[in-house]
Amino acid sequence: MKFFVDTADTAEIADLAATGLLDGVTTNPSLIAKSGRDFMEVTKEICALVDGPVSAEVIALDHPTMMKEAEVLRKIADNVCIKVPLTVDGLKTCKALTDDGAMVNVTLCFSANQALLAAKAGASFISPFVGRHDDNGFDGLDLLRDIRLIYDNYNFETEILAASIRHPIHVLESARIGADVATMPPAVIRALFKHVLTDKGIEGFLADWAKTGQTILK
Ligand code: E4P
Repeated sequence: MKFFVDTADTAEIADLAATGLLDGVTTNPSLIAKSGRDFMEVTKEICALVDGPVSAEVIALDHPTMMKEAEVLRKIADNVCIKVPLTVDGLKTCKALTDDGAMVNVTLCFSANQALLAAKAGASFISPFVGRHDDNGFDGLDLLRDIRLIYDNYNFETEILAASIRHPIHVLESARIGADVATMPPAVIRALFKHVLTDKGIEGFLADWAKTGQTILK
């Protein structure tokens, strides 16, 4: 399972990339706004911090303007992945871009039928929003299960990118279901490392080690 971080905070991205466990980054207009940075400038910086895909979202809602925006975004770096919304124009743009060899992440997916359409449009990634689905009284994980089943039925190569992840259980369940990628806020990635018994175990080992009076590094 690939781990992407869902942020435009370059300090967080650099710190997580240093673990060697980060496979990519997703951004969206809200995250860019939160960063307070210039879109092009911060996206370029993020692309240099990770080798994997960096999703940068178009703003236009019509296909011709989406194509023009995508053309600008594609020039930022080779690892830019164009993010388009799951609309008719978004999928037209997805088809045209992937036919032309670009990476495309189709975002704001809330139904398995939408995911089926995105796969038919050649999407590199489909982003079902698990947390927002839950927030609205649906089961986000059931959505993932349906998409996994459908994609496997037809051997679609589109990668399932579990998005809008709110906590470690979402990550665990997404992995059980077989999502290809999870994009998570930095705090959720950090929480995956933690376990109270790990901390307690280290504490106990160090206390016993101190009694030996030994050192490894002389
Ligand atoms: C995915 O690419 C989106 O940026 C993101 O996961 C949205 O998550 P949110 O519902 O926490 O805003």
